[in-house]
Amino acid sequence: MKQSTLAIHGCMPERGDAPYSPSAPAIELAASFHYERAADMTAVANAEMEGFVYQRYGNPTAAALQRQVALLEGGDSALACSSGMAALHIALLTALRDRPASILTAEVLFGETFQLLQLMEQQEVMTRYADPCDIEAFEAALAQSDTGCILVETASNPLVRVTPLDSICTMAKRHGVPVVVDATFTTPVLSRPFDVGADILMHSATKYLAGHADVLGGVTVCREAHADWMQELGRHLGPNLGPFHSFLTMRGIKTLPLRMEEHSRNALRVARVLEAHPRVEMVHYPGLDSHPDKAVADRLFARGPDGDTLYGGMVSFDIRDADEAAVFRFANALQLVVRATSLGDVHSLMTHPATTTHKNIGPKRRAQLGIGDNLVRISVGIEDPEDIAADLVQALERV
Ligand SMILES: Cc1ncc(COP(=O)(O)O)c(C=O)c1O
Repeated sequence: MKQSTLAIHGCMPERGDAPYSPSAPAIELAASFHYERAADMTAVANAEMEGFVYQRYGNPTAAALQRQVALLEGGDSALACSSGMAALHIALLTALRDRPASILTAEVLFGETFQLLQLMEQQEVMTRYADPCDIEAFEAALAQSDTGCILVETASNPLVRVTPLDSICTMAKRHGVPVVVDATFTTPVLSRPFDVGADILMHSATKYLAGHADVLGGVTVCREAHADWMQELGRHLGPNLGPFHSFLTMRGIKTLPLRMEEHSRNALRVARVLEAHPRVEMVHYPGLDSHPDKAVADRLFARGPDGDTLYGGMVSFDIRDADEAAVFRFANALQLVVRATSLGDVHSLMTHPATTTHKNIGPKRRAQLGIGDNLVRISVGIEDPEDIAADLVQALERV
């Protein structure tokens, strides 16, 4: 079945014995489940019988979301978590089981991911950085010392560099190293990391999956080989997503394929308008011919109904000769696009990475990575594209 069908039917409740079934999954709030017979409870707790015992061990609403995301991703097992960061932590701990305590990752990552990796260094899990878009350099780094797992983002935050995930996974297989993927920017609509050989992936469900700025959540998905350990970590560490937010995420996912097409169409339009604007120095969007990874995106990303590649909804750009004060003048002049630190919502929003998502990595490192004080990141929403573009253009006039 196609993604648009799975997104809608993947979370539908089972009919059971009744001649009817509800049109939406129930929000099952119960913290624990009461049993007629103690032996049945023990059997369920020991995974000898299907069922639910205690919410940290599993919940019917979260289970429906997990089924829906696993189906969309073509994965074997999923764990719904209370945030994207919790999902990423679970993904890394899952991958590192019985592996060297070392992670090879990209130099440009979501800012909070750097923080998590630094925290993990306190537990002796060391991190090395290389550029996954430079396959030879990345393989050289991989060969340099024992690597427990590779961590990459499908498209990087905030420069929207597209990781050649097929080549990274082929290389990782040669070295016997599992690949963990942060697929937040692309969602299963644009690309399915398992199809090119990834082992574990995660999403910040706060973003496109839920899509409406009313959920903090995450989902980790893995292959069969990692499933038992990932679920066991979930039971012991308790990162679980609650039933209400599980429900909202499922509801959001039903329209995910439609939204991703619209985000992509609008983002391409906005990127082209920005590229033509004299106050814009550079636009970072993989749908533009000027982007270094356009060919990789065309190879890896899905196509929309009109046959054109879907490049996603994230556009970043450098405002010409702008310092922080000038960027703030631009930000404050926006009337439709909101100032916020999230992404993937139905509404358009802008973020200034240097003072928000990437402030902790310091100005020198930011400059080396190409994240200037004049860089603005736009999560292009699904409003009318001409309204979004007009708002950005009028704000650029006020820089
Ligand atoms: C690429 C990426 N990964 C992970 C996260 C973390 O997600 P959350 O805020 O849901 O913990 C974010 C949040 O912005 C993100 O952009």
